Amino acid sequence: MSADLKAKAGLEDVVATSSAICYLDGDRGVLAYRGYDIHDLARFATFEETCYLLWHGRLPTRAELGDLQSQLAAARPLPEAVLRLMKMLPVVDGMDALRTLTSALGHYDADAAASGAQAAYRKAVRLTGQMASLVATWGRLQEGDMPIAPDPAMGHAANFLYMLSGQRPNPTATRAMDVALTLHADHELNASTFAARVAAATLTDIHSATVAGVATLKGPLHGGANAEVMKMLLEIGEDAPVDRVDAYVRGKLARKEKIPGFGHRVYHTEDPRATHLRQMSRELGQKAGNTRWFDMSERIEATVRAEKKLSANVDFYSATTYYAMGIAIDLYTPIFAVSRISGWTAHVLEQYANNRLIRPRADYTGPQYPQHWVPLEQR
Ligand SMILES: CC(C)(COP(=O)(O)OP(=O)(O)OC[C@H]1O[C@@H](n2cnc3c(N)ncnc32)[C@H](O)[C@@H]1OP(=O)(O)O)[C@@H](O)C(=O)NCCC(=O)NCCS
Repeated sequence: MSADLKAKAGLEDVVATSSAICYLDGDRGVLAYRGYDIHDLARFATFEETCYLLWHGRLPTRAELGDLQSQLAAARPLPEAVLRLMKMLPVVDGMDALRTLTSALGHYDADAAASGAQAAYRKAVRLTGQMASLVATWGRLQEGDMPIAPDPAMGHAANFLYMLSGQRPNPTATRAMDVALTLHADHELNASTFAARVAAATLTDIHSATVAGVATLKGPLHGGANAEVMKMLLEIGEDAPVDRVDAYVRGKLARKEKIPGFGHRVYHTEDPRATHLRQMSRELGQKAGNTRWFDMSERIEATVRAEKKLSANVDFYSATTYYAMGIAIDLYTPIFAVSRISGWTAHVLEQYANNRLIRPRADYTGPQYPQHWVPLEQR
């Protein structure tokens, strides 16, 4: 009955839905949110403006932006019970903690019992405010430090860094984090956004759909790659001579192992986000007085390009960008979620607004039908 169903491995180039949120041209290396080029957004937008753009389809006025900033600030203090739960968790991977804690947020949301578009939007804003607090507070607890209350006067990026470090961040660090958050905010039907949309299409709630997104982002083929990049650089070693860097990369390729931070399903040219992150990684390394990691990254990039014709993706230079900012490696993928929550929720809201259950088919490759039933005592 399903002999004519042919699978497309990994759904490559399969168009699974219509969406007005993110425009991607993998051949030209174009990424745009709601028509705005990512290069302009990286240069001019704040993360809060980006959130508004993703959720509402247009840039906010000053008053609308002010309202959103207030709503995000109001959402940032974590429910006491979630803080208690965070302290009770064993030492686990940051993404495992984030998955559990994101789920827990759903129990304490002011609109927990409410459905409908308005409630879903309020939850999207709250989740975005809270995600940053979860990651910053988790980061502090891992270092044995006390949680820091959010500062409502600060923007999203600055407040995140403040809640993480306890220090008021300098303008360079704030801008770097703001740009990183903007760059990671949305990326069409990437795996975690697709997972969130599939969940939302069953008309489950937005917290549940977000948990699907967090769980999917964790994998090393997706958001988990940024932490893998830094682990690779550390494994090569800060003082490794250039030939050891080359030998490491070639050895990995010879063993058919993937180099984290390279390759992309959609881009056949440079990932436009990598252009900005490369620049930020260089500048932050220079400012910190250590460009060794950046130099090593550039060397790896040249070797992978020469050997495999593959370009760096968003995760490659975000690793050294965060490292230069003194951020713990375990937080790199959770920081991706601090940003991508805006895209996940924009897509979930879009899915709710024009929903149909997402339920594809499989090309059956199991034993031939029908199989003869063999009673238990004869097997
Ligand atoms: C992103 C990714 C999952 C896309 O996967 P995909 O579209 O299914 O591509 P494939 O895994 O089929 O790779 C196609 C070819 O490129 C190679 N390739 C892709 N990414 C590679 C990498 N990072 N290192 C080495 N080789 C890579 C594959 O080995 C394969 O080569 P082959 O045809 O000789 O077998 C993949 O590039 C990858 O695993 N990258 C590393 C993880 C990463 O950085 N993820 C973050 C993405 S933003």
